Amino acid sequence: MKVAYILVAAAFAVCLSTAAAKKPWFCHYLDCPTYTVGESNEDYEVRTYAKGKYASTKIEGYLYSASLLQGFKRLFDYISGENEGSVKINMTAPVATKVEHGDGPFCKSNFTVSFFVPFEDQEDTPKPTNPAVFLHDTPSATFFVSQYGGFGQDDITISLKANALADKLTTAGENFVEGLFFTAGYDPPFRLTGRHNEIWIVKQSGAGVTSA
Ligand SMILES: *[C@@H]1O[C@H](CO)[C@@H](O)[C@H](O)[C@H]1NC(C)=O
Ligand SMILES: *[C@@H]1O[C@H](CO)[C@@H](O)[C@H](O)[C@H]1NC(C)=O
Repeated sequence: MKVAYILVAAAFAVCLSTAAAKKPWFCHYLDCPTYTVGESNEDYEVRTYAKGKYASTKIEGYLYSASLLQGFKRLFDYISGENEGSVKINMTAPVATKVEHGDGPFCKSNFTVSFFVPFEDQEDTPKPTNPAVFLHDTPSATFFVSQYGGFGQDDITISLKANALADKLTTAGENFVEGLFFTAGYDPPFRLTGRHNEIWIVKQSGAGVTSA
């Protein structure tokens, strides 16, 4: 009798904590930024992210995949202790990269790679010691988001997916910010199934909010 009661109580506690977190499945056990979904269709959903805090680093380069790797390394070093206080900071999801393409094939693009700062560290965030890594607060912002599975973080895939989303938005008559998009990858390389990737395009709000 007593055992049954404890089991029910435990199950109830699990339900409560799951409900409180309201985390999408693809964040798994990691902190990830909170958002609400407005409209959605089979091609994309409209997400409004709450204001948040990120650690970021900017890479000027030709290739997305190489730049992502370089940016990831810098940010991973930052959370592994390259900060004032030499503290460890938990990994979060996603790894979000802002892609600003140069005008021609021989122009460099800017890739700004970002880690979301864990909720527990947002008030008092350890300062990076690498000057190439910077902390910044982002205001609430709305994005058009398309989603896909698999290993989808190479140059060709992200270009195809970003172009496809921009085409859908144009066809649907949506107002969006042109010339830049974000990629979001949620998985470590060793996760073989249930992988999740996204493309975010900034919704033109009229208020000029374009940062994330
Ligand atoms: C990339 O960043 C540099 C330095 O901030 C800037 O001068 C350049 O115009 C940017 N390029 C693109 C394609 O956004
Ligand atoms: C880091 O993650 C661990 C394990 O999920 C958790 O117990 C701990 O509270 C987290 N610490 C911070 C500062 O977020």
